Amino acid sequence: MRNMLPLLSSKPHQGGRSALTCRYRCGDACFQEVPNTSDNEYAADIIAGALSRRSVVRAAAVVTVAAAAGTASVTGPGGGGQAHAAAAVSRGAGSGRADGARGLRFAPVAPNVADTVTIPSGYRQDIVIRWGDPILRGAPAFDAERQTAKAQAGQFGYNNDFLSLLPLPGERGRQIMVANHEYTSEWLMFRNYDPQNPTREQVEIGWAGHGLSVVVVQEERGTGRLTAVPRHRLNRRITATTEFRVTGPAAGSPLLKTSVDPSGTRVLGTFNNCAGGETPWGTTLHGEENINNYFANSSRPTDRRYGLATGATERKWERFDKRFDVRQEPNESHRFGWVVELDPYDPDSTPRKRTALGRFKHEGAQPRLTDDGRPVVYMGDDERFEYFYKFVSSRRMKKGNSRAAREHNLTLLDEGTLYVAKLTGDSPEYTNGTGTGAHPADGEFDGSGVWIPLATNKVSHVPGMTADEVYVFTRLAADKVGATKMDRPEDVEPSPRTGRVYVALTNNTERGNPGKPGADEANPRNFNKHGQILELAENWDDPSSDGFAWRLFLVAGDPNDPQTYFAGFPKDRVSPISCPDNVTFDPHGNMWISTDGNKLGSNDGLFGVATQGERRGELKQFLTVPIGAETCGPVVQDRRVLVAVQHPGETDFATVEKPDSTWPDGPGKLVRPAVVSIWRKDGRDIGV
Ligand code: FEO
Ligand code: CA
Ligand code: CA
Ligand code: CA
Repeated sequence: MRNMLPLLSSKPHQGGRSALTCRYRCGDACFQEVPNTSDNEYAADIIAGALSRRSVVRAAAVVTVAAAAGTASVTGPGGGGQAHAAAAVSRGAGSGRADGARGLRFAPVAPNVADTVTIPSGYRQDIVIRWGDPILRGAPAFDAERQTAKAQAGQFGYNNDFLSLLPLPGERGRQIMVANHEYTSEWLMFRNYDPQNPTREQVEIGWAGHGLSVVVVQEERGTGRLTAVPRHRLNRRITATTEFRVTGPAAGSPLLKTSVDPSGTRVLGTFNNCAGGETPWGTTLHGEENINNYFANSSRPTDRRYGLATGATERKWERFDKRFDVRQEPNESHRFGWVVELDPYDPDSTPRKRTALGRFKHEGAQPRLTDDGRPVVYMGDDERFEYFYKFVSSRRMKKGNSRAAREHNLTLLDEGTLYVAKLTGDSPEYTNGTGTGAHPADGEFDGSGVWIPLATNKVSHVPGMTADEVYVFTRLAADKVGATKMDRPEDVEPSPRTGRVYVALTNNTERGNPGKPGADEANPRNFNKHGQILELAENWDDPSSDGFAWRLFLVAGDPNDPQTYFAGFPKDRVSPISCPDNVTFDPHGNMWISTDGNKLGSNDGLFGVATQGERRGELKQFLTVPIGAETCGPVVQDRRVLVAVQHPGETDFATVEKPDSTWPDGPGKLVRPAVVSIWRKDGRDIGV
């Protein structure tokens, strides 16, 4: 029997997420006091230099309504998935249209609670790699009953989240896949797990199950299938104990020095890596998100702003390494919460923590180059009432693959300016925090914004804070300058096609509660269960410009709900969506959105939506993931869609002994997070 913990109560959880997920991934953030208690929402700034919005021609869409959907509920290749029969819930997915914008021509999948990955008819799927599959030389095959930390350190980690596919020149039909392993779910990993008394081996398996994986994958000719190539020379595991170098303006700061690292520049490990990004110079970025979960016994106000525990942690790592006990090693927690940069092409490289990008609960980090070649990195801080940020490098990227160019480009994220966003709406009815979500009288949730500089290299722009303090306590710096409190900013990604920037805001059921900020035009609903997506227009030809225009692109939920908005597209022709989290773009310029915590009664899913043209706002569901899972890491290429199925089976009261999911391998096997590739049966491109 599971030992019941006090926090495993019957309280409702944020979004549709299970108690187990809340506890292990975000440290029950929904039950804790919101860490942002600053009063900056009343700060009144005059917005200068806001851009006039590009007008978007949105002709009345003429859409043919086709026959009923033919979606394929496909059991995982191991035969699992029979434990819970598919059951359509709520309304259907639009009307089953296989037409749509180029790249989105598939029959949408209906919302469901099947214990499988459900994909459109005419498509195929297969597992690319599972938790525990060996990737390094000498690593054993996965054995659920004989797990060891040594084995896990050579195997694919737990809870795959962000995914990147990078080209591998010189090796035909192969790509490099980089994956985040956000956290470990010990209940579902170990038989008879006792959360009060984890063993050293279990804790060290947890350390090795965190971090990142680099795995070369082989394409199957004529399909979108990918298979892992074990023991490839580029394959790599980075774990909670791998050595990192700290770089940028706060490297070596007294705030980062510890008893074992008086230099303040060398850190062991990365954890809670959520989303990430790909740089144009061939590296990957990885956000360190809910790092508060790992550090015990803190009473400092600065740590409270980051949500650190005053007592023991859930995983109790502090019993096995004193660096996780703030009383014993006060600055160790300051060495997490950064954006990590990895060079997957050099298996011997030391990954870096880039202090110039600030320290907060980083969801992801996605760059785009300005017209003059400088990277701008967009970043969300995923917690209720937190902010979103950007970093603008002062250096230009060098093209080419010469050693000099690569070395130069690895310095791009160490020099520049860190900004936080402040938004102002233009519809007066939204300035009083009433939060009905009703569509504004001027026709749009929109307004202007300003990027407020926080620090440039060693110079602080925040009164009363040194530059080191701005970088290490970025949340406090943003409080002081009156940044706008958002509904959990997750991925913030610029469209490679249009340069418009999209901010996924997952949900915030605390908005409008007594003592909490009420709705505003960018966060227009109180008790916001379903989230929204913001669209920004940036000045790509002028990196020093600090103004932008914004509007809501999507107000998520059941399309029958009058509060929802799909960029003006007819709502009887879209799929229901709840809790947008990660976004990516396909080769046609469409945005794809994965969800985390569906509150409409369906499993989480992946959706495609056109952002331009007559079909702008036409949102279609491409897949659903198994019971308890979150859809993560989407990558959309011409021939394949790749998703990370994170925390499958992570429902309230599920254990190894009493699983709620048997995905992907069927009864009698441990439920295992895994990466899935989906492609078209006829071999043609996705959605054309
Ligand atoms: Fe790890 Fe913001 O989700
Ligand atoms: Ca996420
Ligand atoms: Ca407006
Ligand atoms: Ca999330």
